[in-house]
Amino acid sequence: MSFALRMAAGGAVLAVAAVILVQAERPPMDSIQRGYRGTGMDEIYNPRSVSKELAANKIPASLPALPDAGPKAGAVYKNVKVLGDESVGNFTRLMASMTTWVAPAQGCAYCHDVNNMASDGLYTKVVARRMLQMVRHINADWKPHVAATGVTCYTCHRGQPVPANIWFNNPGPLQAGGMAQMPAGKNHPTAVARDTSLPFDPFTPFLEHDSDIRIASQTALPSGDRKSIKQTEWTYALMMNFSQSLGVNCTYCHNTRSFTDWDQSTPQRATAWYGIRMVRDLNNDYLDPLHATFPVARLGVDGDSPKVNCATCHNGVYKPLFGVGMAKDFPELTVTH
Ligand code: HEC
Ligand code: HEC
Ligand code: HEC
Ligand code: HEC
Repeated sequence: MSFALRMAAGGAVLAVAAVILVQAERPPMDSIQRGYRGTGMDEIYNPRSVSKELAANKIPASLPALPDAGPKAGAVYKNVKVLGDESVGNFTRLMASMTTWVAPAQGCAYCHDVNNMASDGLYTKVVARRMLQMVRHINADWKPHVAATGVTCYTCHRGQPVPANIWFNNPGPLQAGGMAQMPAGKNHPTAVARDTSLPFDPFTPFLEHDSDIRIASQTALPSGDRKSIKQTEWTYALMMNFSQSLGVNCTYCHNTRSFTDWDQSTPQRATAWYGIRMVRDLNNDYLDPLHATFPVARLGVDGDSPKVNCATCHNGVYKPLFGVGMAKDFPELTVTH
C-alpha cells in the first residue's frame, strides 16, 4: 500500500472510531441484575440520563378534589355528551386540568369558541371529547396493562396539544417499479429502530394491523412465511422500538437464550403483550376514526390519522412518569358510562 493510501485508510478508521465514540455513552454506568446469575438479565443505566429523565417526568400538581354535590353538568350546560353526570364543580375542575395538560399556553380557547362554549365548531373540542372516552376506556378496560396507575391526558400530552411521540403510516421513499425493486420496507436508516436499516415502519403491521409478531419456528422444517429472516427483521425493528420507547434492554422482558419461551420471560413481557393489544385497540377505535375530524395538516402523507405507540405514553421510561399515578385524583376518568 502506498503511504498516501495508508494515510487515507487510517483516516477512515479514525473517522469510524470517532462516530462510534460519539454514539457510545461515557462511563461510569450503573447496572441492576434482574434475572438469575449467568443469564445476563441486567439493566444498564446511565445515572446522568436517569437524573435528566426524572426531571423531565415531573407531574403537575392535581387541583384539589371537590365534593361531588350540586347540580350536574348535563342539567346546566347545553352540549355535554360524556361528562353529564359530573357535578358542575368537578366538571369545571376537569376543564381547568385538561387545559393544563393539553393546552396551557393556548387556554380554553384551544377547544372552545369562547363566545359560545357549547359550540362544537372547533375540531379540537370534538377530538377532546373522543379523548375523554378513550382515557376512560384505557383506565377501566385495560387494567392488565395500566394497572391502578392509569393515565390522564398528561401521560401523552405533557402540556402540548400534539404529543411528542406520534406516528403515521410510512410508505417510504418513492421506488422505481419492476422486479429490481424488493426493498421490503428497509435499507433506509431509521430512527424508529435506533438508526439501523431494519424495516422503517414496523408500526403499521403490528400496532395498527394485527400481523403475527412471533417468528420462532415451532416445527423442525420451515413452514409459513412468518418464520423467515425477512419477517424476523420486522419483529426486530418493533422490538428495538419497544426497548427505545421504555428505555430498557431486551432482557427487561426476555431471557435471550430463548426469546420465544414465556416461562423464561419476565412478568413485564406479559404486560407488554397486553400493551400491544391495547395500542391496536386505541389506534383502530379512537385515532383512525377521527381521520375526517382532523384538519389535513394533522394527517400523514397517506392521509392517515396520527397514531399512538408505546413511546406516546412511556416517553422513554419503563413506566410512564415513573409509575406515579394521576388517574386516582380523577375518578371521573376511570368510569365508563
Ligand atoms: C382540550 C380541550 C378543552 C379545553 C382546553 C377546555 N375544554 Fe371545555 N369542553 C371540552 C369538551 C370536549 C367539552 C364537552 C364535554 C362533553 O361532551 O362531555 C367541553 C365543555 C365545556 C363546557 C360546557 C359548554 C356547554 O354549554 O355545553 C364548559 C362550560 C366548558 N367546557 C368550560 C371550559 C373552560 C372554562 C375551559 C378553560 C379553563 C375549558 N372548558 C377548556 C374541551 C375542552
Ligand atoms: C394515549 C395517548 C393520549 C392520551 C391519554 C390523550 N391523548 Fe389527546 N391526542 C393523542 C394523539 C396521538 C393525538 C393526535 C395528535 C395530533 O392532533 O396531531 C391527540 C390529539 C389531541 C387533540 C388535538 C390537538 C391538535 O392540535 O390537533 C386534543 C385537543 C386532545 N388530544 C385532547 C386530549 C384530552 C383532553 C385528553 C384527556 C382527556 C387526551 N387528549 C388524552 C394521544 C392522547
Ligand atoms: C417491553 C417488553 C419487551 C422488550 C423490551 C422486548 N421484547 Fe421482544 N417480545 C415482547 C413480547 C410481548 C413479544 C410477543 C409478542 C406477541 O406475541 O404478540 C415479543 C416477541 C419477541 C420475539 C419473537 C419470539 C417468538 O416467539 O417468535 C423476538 C425474537 C423478540 N421479541 C426479540 C426481542 C429483542 C431482540 C429485543 C431487544 C431489542 C426485545 N425483544 C425487546 C416483549 C418485549
Ligand atoms: C396509554 C398509555 C400506554 C401505552 C400506549 C403503553 N403503555 Fe405500557 N404502561 C402504561 C402504564 C400507565 C404502565 C404502568 C402500570 C403499572 O403501574 O403497573 C405501563 C407499564 C408497562 C410495563 C410494565 C413495566 C414494569 O416495570 O412493570 C411494560 C413492560 C410496558 N408498559 C410496555 C409497553 C409496551 C411494549 C407498549 C407498546 C406496545 C406500551 N407499554 C404502551 C401505559 C401505557
